Amino acid sequence: MTDSVPAVQFRNLTDLSQIQQDIWISLQRSVTARDCGWRLPVLATRSGDTVRQRTVVLRRVDAATGCLFAHTDLRSPKVAQLLADARTSLLFYDHSAATQLVVTALASVHTDDTLAADFWESEPVSSLRGYLGPHSPGSPADQPNSNLPAEFLGRVPERGELTPARINFAVIRFEVKAIEWLHLSRQGNLRAVFPATHTSGDGEIFGGWLHP
Ligand SMILES: Cc1cc2nc3c(=O)[nH]c(=O)nc-3n(C[C@H](O)[C@H](O)[C@H](O)COP(=O)(O)O)c2cc1C
Repeated sequence: MTDSVPAVQFRNLTDLSQIQQDIWISLQRSVTARDCGWRLPVLATRSGDTVRQRTVVLRRVDAATGCLFAHTDLRSPKVAQLLADARTSLLFYDHSAATQLVVTALASVHTDDTLAADFWESEPVSSLRGYLGPHSPGSPADQPNSNLPAEFLGRVPERGELTPARINFAVIRFEVKAIEWLHLSRQGNLRAVFPATHTSGDGEIFGGWLHP
């Protein structure tokens, strides 16, 4: 994706069906658009009385099934939170398109199935290196510590060297339940909600307008 082609784009700001389609097209483009705000959503989880947010990388989008994907360290606290309560919210904002999405989704954690295996094989080694850490993410450290084995400091491992990291690797699949869209404009802001999970493909409109 070059800078001249923005990842997040809306062709017609008055057509709900078109907006819904463009949301999914833009999400798909965001995965490979390094400077796009939608590539780095904020994931909120809750567990009991605790609500927590953190940035994740949007790794894959499947518009046909209405699913978004990220990956994480199985040992990180968010995994236990997701297993305790699968209800999540993902917040996206792209500054260039002045457009926010608040996505409500149900999360599932995948470690040993074909989905996890497919991600493990297809993700670049540079994005898997972090799973080599000997310590659980978030565990106390007695000094500044990157949690990378010394031999991998400052270099990207060979794929074969990643084997010990596989046990720490988990894919999070988000089954989208609703998308709230907010577009900021000098002409007047616009807001809509799309409660269904995926585009119909036959022009059916699932969404509705909201007052911004
Ligand atoms: C730009 C950015 C991208 C990140 N991407 C991920 C990611 O894809 N997966 C992930 O687990 N953590 C990612 N993190 C780290 C998380 O924000 C968080 O600090 C970490 O996963 C621990 O979260 P937890 O303690 O809530 O489980 C990213 C952080 C930043 C700043």
